[in-house]
Parts: sequence; structure tokens; C-alpha cells
Amino acid sequence: MHTDETEGPRAPDAQALIAEEHERLRVLLDRLNASDDLREILPRLIELKDLLAVHFAHEEAPDGMHALIGDTAPRLLTRVDRLMKEHEGFLRSAIELTSRTRSCLDETVAGIRTDIRKLSAELSDHDRAETEILNDALLTDIGGNG
Ligand SMILES: [Fe+2]
Ligand SMILES: [Fe+2]
Repeated sequence: MHTDETEGPRAPDAQALIAEEHERLRVLLDRLNASDDLREILPRLIELKDLLAVHFAHEEAPDGMHALIGDTAPRLLTRVDRLMKEHEGFLRSAIELTSRTRSCLDETVAGIRTDIRKLSAELSDHDRAETEILNDALLTDIGGNG
């Protein structure tokens, strides 16, 4: 029977995947830091939270950081453990920031819409009153001359 030996080089795949995700994270974080626009920030925060969830799962997987480090440098495992414990907090922060940004946008948009409707109704009343006065004056004027 033929023995397949393609099982061996699993580790470099996991390592390459983690490195690729670190690069995607770096680009995303740069974009997030460069933006002042909450409407632009919201989809990026959602992307961050999704990417972090996937990335942390890859790092914590059986063939993740532990396997990659434990095989070659077991002395570093304590540091790896400490880093893996930080994941939960980062994910919680990303989720919290996403929901804060969303509710901030919702409140702002709803507030502005309400104020626009109010201004618009008041201006319409105001103009209607002026038009009435103008029409009255015109009628009085016509009456006066006739
Ligand atoms: Fe990472
Ligand atoms: Fe990590």
C-alpha cells in the first residue's frame, strides 16, 4: 500500500496563515487609525472583529501557536500562553467599539433627521404666515385703491 507523507509539513502552512493574517490586521489597523469618519470606521471595526475571531481561532488551534512553538522552542511556551490569554480582551474591545460606533451613528442620524423635520415644519409655517400677510396686504391695497 502506498504511504502518503504529505502529512508532515502542516506547520509551515499554519505559520504562513498566521503571518498573512498579521499583515491583514496591520493594514486594517492603519486604516482604522487614519479615519475620522464614523461611517467609514464602522465597517472596518466589523471587519476587525471578524478577522480577530478567525485569527485568534487559528492561533489557538491544535496546529496553531502552541504546536509551532512547542516543537521548536518550548522555552517560549509561557509567553505564548500569556499572549493567547490576551485574545479574549481584544475581541471584547473590538465588539464593544463596534456597538458603540453603531449606536453613536444611529443616535446622530436619528437626531439630525428629527431636527431637520422640525426646522422644515417651522420654516413652512413661517413662510405660510408671511405669504398670508403679503396676500392680505395686497388685497387691502387693491381694496384701498378701488
Ligand atoms: Fe496574532
Ligand atoms: Fe494572537
